[in-house]
Amino acid sequence: MIRSIRNKISLTYILFALVTLISVAVIIEYELESQIEDNIESELLNEIDIISHYLADSNTGSFLHTYESFHQHTVQTQIRITAIDSIGTVLLDSEVEPQLLRFLENHRTRPEINLAAIYGTGRDKRMSKSTSIEYFYVAKKIDIPGLKGDLAGIKYLRASLSLQKMQEQISSMRVKIAYAGIIAMILILILSIFVSERISKPLRNIITKVNEISRGNYNLQIDVTSHDETRMLADSINSLAKQINTDVIELERLAKVRSQFLANVSHELRTPLFSMQAFLETLLKGAINDPAVNTKYLSKALAHVDRLNFLLNDLIEISRIESGELKLSFRYFSIDELFQQISDTFKVLAEQKQITLEIPKNSGIQVYGDRSRLQQVFSNLIDNAIKYNPEGTCIKISCKPIDKSVQFSIEDNGIGIAAEHLPRIFERFYRVDKERSRETGGTGLGLAIVKHIVEAHGSTITATSTAGTGTTFSFCLKK
Ligand SMILES: Nc1ncnc2c1ncn2[C@@H]1O[C@H](COP(=O)(O)OP(=O)(O)OP(=O)(O)O)[C@@H](O)[C@H]1O
Ligand SMILES: [Mg+2]
Repeated sequence: MIRSIRNKISLTYILFALVTLISVAVIIEYELESQIEDNIESELLNEIDIISHYLADSNTGSFLHTYESFHQHTVQTQIRITAIDSIGTVLLDSEVEPQLLRFLENHRTRPEINLAAIYGTGRDKRMSKSTSIEYFYVAKKIDIPGLKGDLAGIKYLRASLSLQKMQEQISSMRVKIAYAGIIAMILILILSIFVSERISKPLRNIITKVNEISRGNYNLQIDVTSHDETRMLADSINSLAKQINTDVIELERLAKVRSQFLANVSHELRTPLFSMQAFLETLLKGAINDPAVNTKYLSKALAHVDRLNFLLNDLIEISRIESGELKLSFRYFSIDELFQQISDTFKVLAEQKQITLEIPKNSGIQVYGDRSRLQQVFSNLIDNAIKYNPEGTCIKISCKPIDKSVQFSIEDNGIGIAAEHLPRIFERFYRVDKERSRETGGTGLGLAIVKHIVEAHGSTITATSTAGTGTTFSFCLKK
């Protein structure tokens, strides 16, 4: 319960309010008390002045008469008057019968008298031992010339007042402060609930949405209207969800590609296997003893084994390249040497089909790359050009330095590739004419391998073609 943000905020508000309230109450009470005390002090001093004037004016010397008028005065004002001589003996007290005065303690050590002896006036506040009511005492050193008789020794006049009334005032003030405090607390509580709700509601909204996202609903976006940290949080979660969504889509695509690849692979493997099986079975059933067909069937079966072998090599190659297992070894090498080698390899094949092969000599160009992989690239492209084009056509290879790179192109004037096939020829197993290319031994992996190798060299390969006119493949390499 205490864990929620709402409760934390409310609790903080209330504690804060409580501390403020208590400090305010303490300050008010202290200020009030000292103000009231100051007022009482000046009232009592005033009283002492009145009494001293009275003493000076009505100096009859009659002790009893003076006591009577003092007593009268006290009944009216509630202010008790005490007259004390220089050594602390109480000479007269408005509340003590004259005959009882001799039982009173000496007053010289009373704090207010002590202070009056030093500074002329003094004040003190203390509990009366008999009534346990707090009294406020003010004393003043006086010098009234011409005092007669028993009153002649008066040195200090002291006036005192019970603080009961003041304490009652303060108590009622306390009650008022308490009421105000309770009202303030209720208001603050309402305010704190309002404020914390404003903070925690969008957070709860975010939590609900995040839960939904974690259940797989990655398309979900969190809307927050404010422009504060909750908005930042929502934005971060939104971009996270978006990222996950893209990743999931990519993973699904990859899974699809893989299963398609597997389907293609098994299909491609099945064809030569079934053919082999058919030839071998026919041979076993007796054809092996028929000299007219036995060698032919065996060599056909062998051709299918060869094809299977090619296919598996290509598959291993492409999966190695795609998984990044195959590391290329880059170095500078002479393109002329490479071209010479290719020319030697394809010379016979091209001549058989009466295809002219134009390969540059003495270009003097050095390129940076993996020589044997690049040889594979050229071989695959030239192999295709010879394989798919009719007799009497021409294949032209060219290399042209551009800035810091060399552009290579392999151009033929053969059958071309129709526009609908052109964007797909670099896909694995893609063949334009499935039946014909199977006859010619193609698996549709050659261009996929070419594309991977060229890309591993930080370049791209492009194919341009017009059906019936010819095809050109081109790519760049670093000089
Ligand atoms: N020079 C070209 N002229 C016309 N068609 C081409 C040419 N090069 C490639 N093609 C077409 O593109 C398809 C894909 O070629 P790719 O080299 O990937 O596969 P393949 O030659 O069939 O098989 P593999 O090269 O794996 O033995 C070919 O089947 C062919 O139809
Ligand atoms: Mg090929």
